[in-house]
Amino acid sequence: CVVPSGYNNNNNTNDDDSGGGDDETVGNGKNMLARKLSTKGDTLYLERRVGLFSGVALIVGTMIGSGIFVSPTGLLIRTGSIGLSFVIWALCGAMSLLGALAYAELGTMNPSSGAEYAYLMDAFGPMPAFLFSWISTLILKPSQVAIICLSFAKYAVEACVDECGSSDFAVKIVAILSILVITYINCYSVNLATGVQNAFTAAKLVAVFVVVAGGVYKIFQGRTENFRDYFDNTTSSMGDVATAFYSGLWAYDGWNNLNYVTEEIKNPSKNIPKAIYISIPLVTICYILVNVAYLTIMSPDEIVRNEAVAVTFGIRALGPIAWVIPLSITVSTLGSANGTLFAAGRLCFAASREGHLMNVLSYIHIKKLTPMPSIIFHSIITIMMVASGTINSLIDFFSFTAWIFYGSAMLALLVMRYTKPDVPRPYKVPIIIPLTIFVISIYLVIAPILDKPQIEYLYSMIFMIAGIVFYVPFVRLGYKFPIIDRWTVFIQLLLQVAPTKLVLP
Ligand code: ARG
Repeated sequence: CVVPSGYNNNNNTNDDDSGGGDDETVGNGKNMLARKLSTKGDTLYLERRVGLFSGVALIVGTMIGSGIFVSPTGLLIRTGSIGLSFVIWALCGAMSLLGALAYAELGTMNPSSGAEYAYLMDAFGPMPAFLFSWISTLILKPSQVAIICLSFAKYAVEACVDECGSSDFAVKIVAILSILVITYINCYSVNLATGVQNAFTAAKLVAVFVVVAGGVYKIFQGRTENFRDYFDNTTSSMGDVATAFYSGLWAYDGWNNLNYVTEEIKNPSKNIPKAIYISIPLVTICYILVNVAYLTIMSPDEIVRNEAVAVTFGIRALGPIAWVIPLSITVSTLGSANGTLFAAGRLCFAASREGHLMNVLSYIHIKKLTPMPSIIFHSIITIMMVASGTINSLIDFFSFTAWIFYGSAMLALLVMRYTKPDVPRPYKVPIIIPLTIFVISIYLVIAPILDKPQIEYLYSMIFMIAGIVFYVPFVRLGYKFPIIDRWTVFIQLLLQVAPTKLVLP
């Protein structure tokens, strides 16, 4: 049976990722399935509906998530001093800005949505592009959801216990429960999923605003005793510095989000760079102010001992309305996790429709029209990650893998300056920008391996090698194990799902 679906069918894997995360919500989220498809002749195209304001909202909404509420601890542990941690918060902002500007060149040069997938395809051909969609589906998206759900759980549990901290076991159980809830929501209804997300997005801005305002108030009260000995105890390990960047860069992740929806941006050559110039400095300022605020209330030692810093901040700074902070952070993180799973489901759906993963993952529920198999598939991987990792180890795992691809996108830009010099580039960055980010990405990937090898880096490499091994027989040559067909029928009957077929509106 063939179900007509509302999915668009332009040939890129990430298309439905609509910005790859919580994203998703602002400005655009509502339209992820019901996007405005228009036709010219019999060609389907997406209408350009994301203007400057929605572009800024899309970037800010994705970047601000769980990180600013959990990374300060990891970053301070790894740097050893508040001085270096502030430097790294600022440098992460600068790197995100430069990286995003380089992506703006790529996005205006190749205007199809899908970001890295599209650029790797242009510069290096189908295999690296396949590897990106494979790794995104198997590692990047599930680890994003896992980190965000663990952050949600940390705050939910911490809000219920006293300042002395919560048990890891309780945090994991709550995180797994939250994954089950968002899985249910996403399988049950597209409208419910996007509705939940839109409603929850404002919460994170409230949390950031309340923390910053509380901090400013405390500074005026003269609470500056923690701002001294800036560089005492600074680490000398290059690996620690690189993983401190991982913690910071997690909080900034999402800076490349507009590139997932280039096809829908109005006047992209102007609006993409403008949105980047507005949103990334804005987020950087917010993050620095939030860190200043934490320090007005807590000593560096206390921050290091407490992974849910904002809860303690709330208790000490806001007194009777302290509950606002954990409430808004839990609501915001749950919304982000929901949005990220939403996007992950679509990415997996699109990747399998391209033949990159099992066919059945591109089926949708015959009544609810949700990509149920791919959502459930993601949730299973995410639960495994939550069960076996911690917030910081998963951040390392995610960042290590993500920076391999961000670095590859920079390389793609550099290579295409030589291989495709004549392709029009409505927005062009000075070559030093992609070059710098490329060199930094090499450092970010290599330094932790050399200095402090972790098993997670090995897993990431194994997944990549497995992707290469999988590619030739199963994608290139299209070989299929006979048992797959029986599995497909079984899953079809079990979940009541069927293949999709595009019908013109
Ligand atoms: N920066 C976000 C946070 O701190 C994570 C963004 C994950 N990336 C994404 N494309 N959704 O939670």
